[in-house]
Amino acid sequence: MEKIVILGGAELSGEVDISGAKNSAVAIIVAAIMIKDVCIIENVPAVSDILVLMDIIRKLGGEAEFIKDNVLRMDCTKLCEVEASYETVRKIRASSYLMGALLGRFKEARVALPGGCDFGVRPIDLHLKGFRCLGAETNIEYGLANIKAEALKGAAVYMDTVSVGATINVMLAAALADGLTVIENAAREPHIVDVANFLNCMGANIKGAGTDVIKIKGVESLHGGTYSVIPDQIEAGTFMLAAAATQGDVLVKNVIPKHLESISAKLIEMGAEIEEFDDSVRVKARRPFKAINVKTLPYPGFPTDLQPQMLTVLTVAEGTSIVTENVWDNRFKYIAELKRMGANINVEGRAAIVEGVPRLTGSPVQATDLRAGAAMVIAGLMANGVTEIYNLNYIDRGYENFVEKLKMLGAQITRRKNDKKLDEREETAETV
Ligand code: UD1
Repeated sequence: MEKIVILGGAELSGEVDISGAKNSAVAIIVAAIMIKDVCIIENVPAVSDILVLMDIIRKLGGEAEFIKDNVLRMDCTKLCEVEASYETVRKIRASSYLMGALLGRFKEARVALPGGCDFGVRPIDLHLKGFRCLGAETNIEYGLANIKAEALKGAAVYMDTVSVGATINVMLAAALADGLTVIENAAREPHIVDVANFLNCMGANIKGAGTDVIKIKGVESLHGGTYSVIPDQIEAGTFMLAAAATQGDVLVKNVIPKHLESISAKLIEMGAEIEEFDDSVRVKARRPFKAINVKTLPYPGFPTDLQPQMLTVLTVAEGTSIVTENVWDNRFKYIAELKRMGANINVEGRAAIVEGVPRLTGSPVQATDLRAGAAMVIAGLMANGVTEIYNLNYIDRGYENFVEKLKMLGAQITRRKNDKKLDEREETAETV
């Protein structure tokens, strides 16, 4: 078992390059299976979710390989399998996009209900409702979603809840349907726009992505081409928060500052300084931080995927902060870990009440999911003493070269096999 070991207290400084967006890339890679041609996808982060997805695509009969760093070549001309079993998809939530893509291409999909991070119930009712609106029949049997249509016909699809996954899935199927589909109350996340841009680049006709009404005129077929994935909003936000947490001065490069406005606004409220440039953001911060209230919401609201990292920084703010999770039912599991580092937090329903403490203290902790893992790293960077973080497979799902990037910024951090005896830990800690 591997662990990350951090000696807290170093102020991060310097520049960091942000990778391509994991959540965009997973959707775009699946979208590419609708194309009987070669697609070159650039700026793809080499994280485990992507590697798992490439494996799934190969199992379905497609080709997917990195031809150089972060450049993926796909050719799904010969892809023919419409069934993705539980064994194949269980590791990754984004495999639900296979439903829309296979349905679009073959008018049929049999996809096991997917895995991914556990934030409570993760329904797919809106995805299925969308497919039914397009004329498909859907049922769930033996853990598989069976979706089949004689023909897909464009239709009006109203999303009862704003859902990133359902919006993308309907967009995929509708891209190759007959006629016009209008998605109302669509999600507006940056990766929705990215997937629409990718599909348009390959011959689709999609308008309005980034607003809450998306219009998709179906086309006969899509063609190959080259496309570059947008920068990762969540990775950028994580580094901005890590910079603030350590009272650092960091230039976060290769970002779209507009995507980071909700994070910048909250950091400014806490007392940090933010400078925006064309494709970078500089964060400078000094404690004391002011306590603030944060509510997660669909884009352009504050992203739920930065809630654990933000709450972690607020554990040392002066006063009481309230963090309200409006997207997922159960996204506070990691708080138990922060409490072991000395944080003072009470959860009441969807709200976490955070009483600022002067400092956190290092401790062994678990990453309870992907973003909670990043939060533990931030906690370790700000804490007094040594923090050891376990369950790194979560962090590996979505952060490319996380430890190396932090090291370049001056963090005292290392990743190693957990093979040291307990009594050697103290000694090791001095050298991280
Ligand atoms: C995506 C992101 C995830 C992020 C989430 C919210 C990817 C691969 N994952 O997940 O990291 O936390 O957006 O920004 O991009 N819902 C329904 N019915 C459905 C679908 C969703 O009620 O059929 C509800 C969910 O329970 C949740 C809310 O809608 O409360 C948002 O979920 P959704 O936007 O669909 O999240 P994902 O696409 O799974």
